Amino acid sequence: GVSLNRITSGVFPVGRIMDFKTIVNGPGGLAAVAADTLLVVLVGNAVPEGLDKPLSAALAAAVSQGDFVFKAGHSLVLHGAAGIKASRLAFVAAASASPKHFRNAVVAGVTALKSGGTRHLAVALAGSDDLDDAHAQALVAAVSDTVYVYRHTKPSAPAPSVLAKVSLVCAKAQSAGIAGGLLHGAGVAEGVALARECANRPANHCTPSFLAAEAKRLGKEFGLKVEVLERKDCEKLGMGSFLAVAQGSHEAPKFIVMRYQGAAKTEAPIVLVGKGITFDTGGISIKPAGEMDEMKFDMGGAASVLGTMRAVAQLKPKVNLIGIVPACENMPDGRAVKPGDVVTSMSGQTIEILNTDAEGRLILCDALTYAERFKPAVVVDIATLTGACVIALGHQRTGLFAPDDALAAELLAAGERGLDPAWRMPLDEEYDDGLKSNFADMGNVGPRPGGAITAAMFLKRFTAKLNWAHLDVAGTAWKSGAAKGATGRPVPLLTQFVLSRAS
Ligand code: BES
Ligand code: MN
Ligand code: ZN
Repeated sequence: GVSLNRITSGVFPVGRIMDFKTIVNGPGGLAAVAADTLLVVLVGNAVPEGLDKPLSAALAAAVSQGDFVFKAGHSLVLHGAAGIKASRLAFVAAASASPKHFRNAVVAGVTALKSGGTRHLAVALAGSDDLDDAHAQALVAAVSDTVYVYRHTKPSAPAPSVLAKVSLVCAKAQSAGIAGGLLHGAGVAEGVALARECANRPANHCTPSFLAAEAKRLGKEFGLKVEVLERKDCEKLGMGSFLAVAQGSHEAPKFIVMRYQGAAKTEAPIVLVGKGITFDTGGISIKPAGEMDEMKFDMGGAASVLGTMRAVAQLKPKVNLIGIVPACENMPDGRAVKPGDVVTSMSGQTIEILNTDAEGRLILCDALTYAERFKPAVVVDIATLTGACVIALGHQRTGLFAPDDALAAELLAAGERGLDPAWRMPLDEEYDDGLKSNFADMGNVGPRPGGAITAAMFLKRFTAKLNWAHLDVAGTAWKSGAAKGATGRPVPLLTQFVLSRAS
């Protein structure tokens, strides 16, 4: 196999260093694969034809004794199976050979092996010849997502996995494409892990200053230019909207600008803008207490920008990329902005802040205006912007808003390809009516119905000079309930998008 990439841990103890490689299926077949554990993903509802004898014998025996069924997600782990070099043989059923179902099956398989002693895992797809680079990407995502454990403020969490090497078994003709997929997957996985780790850290750890320090650290490690604007700098630039949100907090706001240069300086950059509210109490329009803890994830957009910068810096595509993160807390305070206050944004447009809990759009609008100076080819903002988006799309698909059809199609395709899907939402001019104000150029909220759309319409007012798209990740950036935690989305979508634009 070709030695590919290493999943390094950076400053974050996100797991063990992991190597992803290909193993070319040789004359001995799967039975001869040298690994601690051989995980066979099964497509179809019977023992696949052409499966190597020792494997099909073991599988047939398990099926006949009722210990395995061909139902997606079902798995079986055998020790010391006859005629098989790997000391553990695992089977897992997939709903189909699609990259998504392959990913789901690998997640189920690795979960079954999770607390075990596997150091080298080899994965094979049986019952289909369709293995390609998309499967390779899916494998890396599945394994690294599954072994990630948040430990920073929970030392008693399960010990990091001992898994150090993962191989994808393939035919010789497939191996070059698959090697590329593993490389891409490893870059994305690093970015996702970084985004998850940042977003999972509580708001007393993950402050605007922490995000700025993290950006600087990434800059040092990967040779990115990183600039952090302080409150005074933002005042000089006239960022009255961003600073209005920040004024209720004792934490210093930070406006972070990161630059990756992979193409000629003259080439127009892609700009990513991430909402970096490190905690959203709602401000004076305070939120109810239930689940307010989850508002530590309100910097998920910012985390995805850091994660994508990291992925791209590692994969080094020929493209210019700029990440912008306006970061602050939204707090109630004697100095906090009040409902009805009117502020002047960097664009010169005035805003009546009718609801201090609609703060994301207030920090993003100034960041979008700031982005104009880079004369970008495209600007994508990423934000946990509205509860209404969660009502509209649930937790599966990210809300995508873009006036330009070609850009929308490009982002949707990147999401499908990265198994990080989005869904397009409308931006008809009629939705703008809700933003009218008697006291300013606009209010910051519209009526409750269609709340995700009016939020996007608000941002649209600041994008006249830009080719712009907006991703509302309120439903996809984190999970609630027993599995509460950040997902790292939409780093896969964004990385795929940036790479697809490389020359
Ligand atoms: N950060 C929230 C959006 C959010 C809410 C994300 C729930 C995920 C779950 C945002 O700042 C917010 O509070 N939005 C308000 C807007 C409203 C006041 C127009 C909302 O969605 O309720
Ligand atoms: Mn809010
Ligand atoms: Zn918010």
